[in-house]
Amino acid sequence: MAHINLGVFVSGGGTNLQAIIDACEAGKIDATVALVISDKEDAYALERARAHEVARVYVAVGRNDSPEYAAADRRHVELLAEHDVDLVCLAGYMRRIGPEVMTTYAEAILNIHPALLPSFPGTHGQDDAVNYGVGVSGCTVHFAWPEFDTGPIIIQAAVPVLPDDDGDSLATRILAQEHKIYPQAIQWYAQDRLRVQGRRVIVENAPPPTILDAIISPGLEI
Ligand code: GRF
Repeated sequence: MAHINLGVFVSGGGTNLQAIIDACEAGKIDATVALVISDKEDAYALERARAHEVARVYVAVGRNDSPEYAAADRRHVELLAEHDVDLVCLAGYMRRIGPEVMTTYAEAILNIHPALLPSFPGTHGQDDAVNYGVGVSGCTVHFAWPEFDTGPIIIQAAVPVLPDDDGDSLATRILAQEHKIYPQAIQWYAQDRLRVQGRRVIVENAPPPTILDAIISPGLEI
């Protein structure tokens, strides 16, 4: 693949969308955000799309498994086709993606999760990490499978959990890493360097880890 079109699903503030748009515009990744789809009419992410003249649409989704949900799923597929989308990126999209999109874009849907999967799946990954008392958490970009937060992992970044952290402060630290690893995963996809083998993703010619040793938290004194 050379240059790919992205369809980005959002529900909220859209800082990951912004990082992806910025990486595209800077020529760091071989991609263009062709379409942004939101299930929330007032999502700030839509404003970010407008500011960059990216096509954007609000699609009400309704309750899971309702007729409205099924119609939204079909509408999503139509919209993605109209905009020649090659890769779907879930970026803070708080709804389950529908079966039609899942089937149409099998192995072409990425998600970002604010924890080191398989730890702390679900919608409160940062709070759950703080409350569990782990010393390290982070974020994960993975291929989306129908079951939330389960698909094959492409890239992860780890950050320390500090003694004074609450969910918000940890979320901020994690978010900074999300903005680095999501564009990177998209670029590997665009370069056709991702090979899915069962649960494992092989990145062809993968560079060595950016953190060369390990994060040990609290730090070592000896
Ligand atoms: C991110 O933490 C993402 O991992 C999670 O929802 C948040 C979305 O943030 N799924 P933003 O809308 O990209 O700013």
